[in-house]
Amino acid sequence: MCGIVGIIGTESVTQRILAALKRLEYRGYDSAGISTINKQKIARCRAAGKLSNLEQELNNGTLSGTIGIGHTRWATHGVPNVENAHPHVAGKVAVVHNGIIENYQQLKEEFADKGVLMQTETDTEVVAHLASQYLEAGMQPTEMMQALLSKIRGAFALLIMTADHPDVLLAARKSSPLAIAHGDGEMFLGSDALALAHLSRKISYLEDGDWAIITKDEAKIYNLENEVIDRPILITEASDKTPDKGKYRHYMEKEIHEQPEVIGYTLASYRNPTTGKITLPDFAFSPLKLPKLTIVAAGTSFYAGMVAKYWFEKLARIPTEVDIASEFRYRNPVLIENGASLFISQSGESLDTLMAQRYARDNGQNIISLVNVPESTIARESDTVLRTLAGPEISVASTKAFTTQLITLLTMAVHWGQLRGTLSDEMASSIMDNLTEMPSLLAAIFSDDLDWGSVSKELASSRDVIYLGRGINFPIALEGALKLKEVSYIHAEGYAAGEMKHGPIALLEKGVPVVMVAPHDEWFEKTSSNLKEALARGARVVLLSDDKGIEKLHEAATWVFRMPEVHQMLTPILYSLPVQLLAYHTARQKGTEIDQPRNLAKSV
Ligand code: AGP
Repeated sequence: MCGIVGIIGTESVTQRILAALKRLEYRGYDSAGISTINKQKIARCRAAGKLSNLEQELNNGTLSGTIGIGHTRWATHGVPNVENAHPHVAGKVAVVHNGIIENYQQLKEEFADKGVLMQTETDTEVVAHLASQYLEAGMQPTEMMQALLSKIRGAFALLIMTADHPDVLLAARKSSPLAIAHGDGEMFLGSDALALAHLSRKISYLEDGDWAIITKDEAKIYNLENEVIDRPILITEASDKTPDKGKYRHYMEKEIHEQPEVIGYTLASYRNPTTGKITLPDFAFSPLKLPKLTIVAAGTSFYAGMVAKYWFEKLARIPTEVDIASEFRYRNPVLIENGASLFISQSGESLDTLMAQRYARDNGQNIISLVNVPESTIARESDTVLRTLAGPEISVASTKAFTTQLITLLTMAVHWGQLRGTLSDEMASSIMDNLTEMPSLLAAIFSDDLDWGSVSKELASSRDVIYLGRGINFPIALEGALKLKEVSYIHAEGYAAGEMKHGPIALLEKGVPVVMVAPHDEWFEKTSSNLKEALARGARVVLLSDDKGIEKLHEAATWVFRMPEVHQMLTPILYSLPVQLLAYHTARQKGTEIDQPRNLAKSV
């Protein structure tokens, strides 16, 4: 959504807010702004576009003060221009907000009736006006917060400051995350621990419904019932290092290349490399008796869930349902009592996934999450947390988080299959032994030095690209198309290859590139027929396959990329790499903003 930061202390805050916002830019980069209180007045600097624009603006003026708030925006209400950039100011109040104020229209109208017109198209501005109105009516900050929070509806992390009380920062949280870092005579607030870890490692998290009055020395936290409450101070695991691209041109390229290593770490965290013993965290239920598994996630994490459905059903014979997070709670899903629901999220903060998780909890499900950020809200609200050890993923397009999710999910399905007696020890060992080779198999693809140049040039000048896969690699076709869309802005669609004839084949005309994810597996013969159907309509085929597959199909393909042979259950992990590389190299040809593509944010 958006990233927010606040600092209250005794030294100048502007540059430190900017530095913290840089660590939050993954949450949005449509515009940015900072406000401070200087000589009892609100001062403000804002810029459309990325933080670098704000940085330039800040260099042109002076914004000083020992209290301040900052924001980096992913636009929801109102176009991404300077006027709609946060902080929003009314009277002596400045506000930054992450989330959506659902009743803002009604509040706007109430203000309009009193002759107060909003200056922006945002939902946030009403919050600044409400706070200002309450303070002008003589309320103290504590009373103002209670009045404000009883008036607004929706999801929010809010930071508010007022020129009349320059010694307090006010904060509130509902659904959107907010953390407090405790310094020495200084306090820091931010959307996550990563934003604050370089300032202080002592972090407490506001819970849903909490609000707080923060001075430079303490945070007084209130719960939904306006009672003072203690929230524990933890030492964060979040890195205090500033991420860098190393020798790579983009974070996406770096993260693609990190996969052999982080896959190795993740696997080793679940499987003892010497004994082969798999150890998963404790579950609040017995996998032996599990009647059904529901998997919920968004975007790339959803595709990981789709692959996992094949694994859980085939290897562990657990009926598995996969849902898109933004749809789940609106369709009144049938959740079997004592069933388990698994929420997959790199960030652990995707709002739709979090809301789906809360819905499942309210409906009696055992909650498991699979996250890359262990202190995230989704992890904190789970009964059992599985971790991917991908390290910080900075590029908006997810790569290493996806493959480490797959590694974890496959390990889990194998383990449960063994426990449930649906998978022989022999088969389990064959899959897991092959899985331990995955880091070197992926590394070998890099050192093969495949020529992505000619195909990516071709894709870069195409209007449409079709990705086809069958069975366990159907989700990889979807993921390949998503990656291409995200980073190159080319229209791409992924289909189950057998589904083409039911409509999408009408899209094919001479020259349309079709990427076939086609390992020589149990679906291969069928996939080859689908490839021939595409060829017959003039498509040009990019074939991703292994020796056996290439032997049978190479003449039909314009471009061929040879993958090592692996156990067919492992192919989705292996074939993720070429689809990521295809998207990356095509985006490079097009010269797009690969790490921060237009309209997107890392966590929404
Ligand atoms: C993937 O490349 C995306 N940028 C996006 O689809 C992402 O996977 C999705 O928003 C879910 O994020 P999460 O895993 O952090 O919940």
